[in-house]
Amino acid sequence: MKKIHISPKKNCKAVIKVEGDKSISHRAIIIGSIAKGKTEIENFLEAEDTLNTVNIFREMGVKIEKKGDNYFVYGNGLNSLREPNKILYSGNSGTGIRLTLGILAAQPFTSTITGDSQVVKRPMMRVIEPLTRMGAKFQSNNGYAPITVYGSNLKGITYKMPIASAQVKSSIMLAALYADGITEIIEPVKSRDHTERMLKYFGAKIFIKNNKIKIMPHSELIGKRIFVPCDISSAAFFIVAGLLMKGSKIKLKNVCINPTRTGIIDALKKMGGKIKIVNKRIKNNEPIGDIIASTSKLKGTTIKGSLIPRLIDEIPVISIAAAFAKGKTVIKDAKELRVKETDRIKTITKNLKRIGIKVIEKEDGMIIYGNNMTPFKYADIDSFGDHRIAMAFSIAALVGDNGLLIKDIDCVNTSFPNFFRILNNL
Ligand code: S3P
Repeated sequence: MKKIHISPKKNCKAVIKVEGDKSISHRAIIIGSIAKGKTEIENFLEAEDTLNTVNIFREMGVKIEKKGDNYFVYGNGLNSLREPNKILYSGNSGTGIRLTLGILAAQPFTSTITGDSQVVKRPMMRVIEPLTRMGAKFQSNNGYAPITVYGSNLKGITYKMPIASAQVKSSIMLAALYADGITEIIEPVKSRDHTERMLKYFGAKIFIKNNKIKIMPHSELIGKRIFVPCDISSAAFFIVAGLLMKGSKIKLKNVCINPTRTGIIDALKKMGGKIKIVNKRIKNNEPIGDIIASTSKLKGTTIKGSLIPRLIDEIPVISIAAAFAKGKTVIKDAKELRVKETDRIKTITKNLKRIGIKVIEKEDGMIIYGNNMTPFKYADIDSFGDHRIAMAFSIAALVGDNGLLIKDIDCVNTSFPNFFRILNNL
């Protein structure tokens, strides 16, 4: 297993372009595959998770190729997918498996899908249950992958979601394209809405009012040109780096600033972070901007409620900001962290304790007692094979006296293959 020693840094003035958004890249492949005609994707994230989604749709007969820097998906419409010859594999990706399940549920063939050792431990009943209500048939390993899907005729449903999850919502929306009748989804709290935006951009008939989404079936999707904005979840590591490193200013270009994703900016600003967003614009239905983060003195805060789905993937790096802030940070209503790539409440808590930060684990979050930038203990950090844990603690290393040793770092390839290159060049 690969490991890396990260040394402290200061006085960094940098302009960075992180890689394409993971959620949007998955969706561009999936929606492009069931649209009619060519979809050209610029700034596609070439990471393990999204490349597994490419392979899944290639396996179902869709021509997807890379020409120059762009990806091209040649879709043949909603009903053009072919029975796969082998088990579909989503790797580490919860998004890949859950969204694909929504499509497989409606196909006139049987298929099996699975993922890696982390994905097979993640709950799939959250999608199996609503899709079964629509008429789909599954055989799973007690609600976990591998899952065999017996494609069926689906009917529209009204579904009140018990949890805020964009993966569940998107899986139902994709299935709803094939259903007889209208599907209505009601979210308890609004989660990321990239599927809604992209389906609309491709011509689907979708109506949204507050947390209610109405999807008309059988609308024809037409292939499009898409620019994938840079991933705010990847930018997040360098935003926090810019705030924490002495004498620094980091600009992140072309970042997706969709309001369902910018909870991290709101939380860090509340902590006293000097963050500016400039050059705001809209590209294929997604807001984009450049984010500038400068050295700041941070103070503790409370992060809870409807803010949680807007920053759920950024909690590992927000915990690092909290660890060096003045005062305590309370994170609650975040039980979903327990079913991410790892149980992130546990993996964050364990590693924070290793560097000497006082933290109390709660069922739905944690309380972190910030050290107000006092020197912290040198330690070995275990990523537990979780990309966001590896990257978050690499940022902590930048502000220690002696840096940190981060173990098991190959996992960053699932979402951000250029992470260590960008970090070294700071
Ligand atoms: C994602 C939704 C979120 C997020 C994940 C990506 C998506 O998961 O944590 O990294 O692309 O739809 P949940 O839907 O489980 O909240």
